[in-house]
Amino acid sequence: MPEIRHVGVCGIGLMGSGIAQVSASAGYQVTVLDTDQPNMSAAQVLERGMARIKQSLDKFVEKGQLPAAERDATVQRLKATSSLDDLRTCDLVIEAIVENMPAKKELFKKLDALLRPEAIICSNTSSLCVIEMAAATKRPKHVAGLHFFNPVPIMKLVEVVKTIVTSQETIDTLFAFAQKLGKKPILAQDTPGFIVNRLLVPYLLYAVRMYESGLASKEDIDEGMKLGCGHPMGPLTLLDFVGLDTTYYISEIMFDEFKDPLMAPPPLLKRMVLAGHYGRKSGRGFYDYS
Ligand code: CAA
Ligand code: NAD
Repeated sequence: MPEIRHVGVCGIGLMGSGIAQVSASAGYQVTVLDTDQPNMSAAQVLERGMARIKQSLDKFVEKGQLPAAERDATVQRLKATSSLDDLRTCDLVIEAIVENMPAKKELFKKLDALLRPEAIICSNTSSLCVIEMAAATKRPKHVAGLHFFNPVPIMKLVEVVKTIVTSQETIDTLFAFAQKLGKKPILAQDTPGFIVNRLLVPYLLYAVRMYESGLASKEDIDEGMKLGCGHPMGPLTLLDFVGLDTTYYISEIMFDEFKDPLMAPPPLLKRMVLAGHYGRKSGRGFYDYS
């Protein structure tokens, strides 16, 4: 199996920051990339992402689960950059940028041109076709999905997504990598939503429809699933946590593939995204976080 020493992460948002954190915590050298955004410079995005990582590590230190010296060593292993060229020596790159195929394909093409031919490129996509990203490269057998769950430092699962051409060696390497991060890998096929989101997303969308049609208040929907089913968060709180924008993109992708009305974005979700109500990350979603 190829040895992984240097890990690249593209995107330092909700997921990329967590993936970079757990990779550095496991002892890997990590370079995490982000770019200028319409409302923020790359430097600001990177600063916000690094602050999120430090806050999360501090929580583990406060609880006595991580020695302060190890937190500091973890931070030392992390490099934040806005230059793609800094990923050149990576053995594994995990893409966690916006859930948009043209953006992901463009990045995969650039990574393919930059990295040595044996390096593995993975996507943390929630719903997009991994083979379409693989086909943008000259190394499709070294491309797979590596789907983490939010919040990455806490959630134990990683879905390893095998396309019809991913090599078994790549899958074995990714299973070993996920285990080194302290995660439980499971094997999923390259179909939108893989295993977990195929079940979770229609449930979340149905909660929006119930609220939208006035069947129950948002608080009662959330309390219902928390107290009645033992879920840690009700579905509308979870939607705010995942990001309404991300869920909307996932829903469109899943509907496009399956044409199942349960997967179609509810009108209210679309309108909330258009209004910029993305959930916790924008300060407002179903609930107010300002
Ligand atoms: N870093 C470090 N520690 C964290 C953390 C983070 N980012 N987030 C939470 N924690 C810790 C807290 O410090 C706390 O620790 P203690 O219990 O030891 O004090 C613990 O986790 C619980 O946190 P809170 O008390 O703040 O709140 P909580 O009990 O509600 O737990 C939660 C938070 C772990 C997020 C929990 O609510 C939960 O599991 N929610 C469901 C999350 C979920 O379903 N995720 C999957 C989303 S779908 C997805 O990711 C796939 C996709 O493609 C969209
Ligand atoms: P996010 O909006 O929090 O972060 C995306 C980051 O990517 C931003 O920091 C943005 O500046 C950056 N970015 C955009 N284009 C870029 C580019 N070309 N190069 C480098 N950086 C770029 O989104 P997120 O919630 O972290 O989701 C990221 C990916 O992970 C998506 O594919 C999403 O479907 C998937 N995912 C999300 C969740 C979740 O709960 N939010 C869970 C699992 C998987």
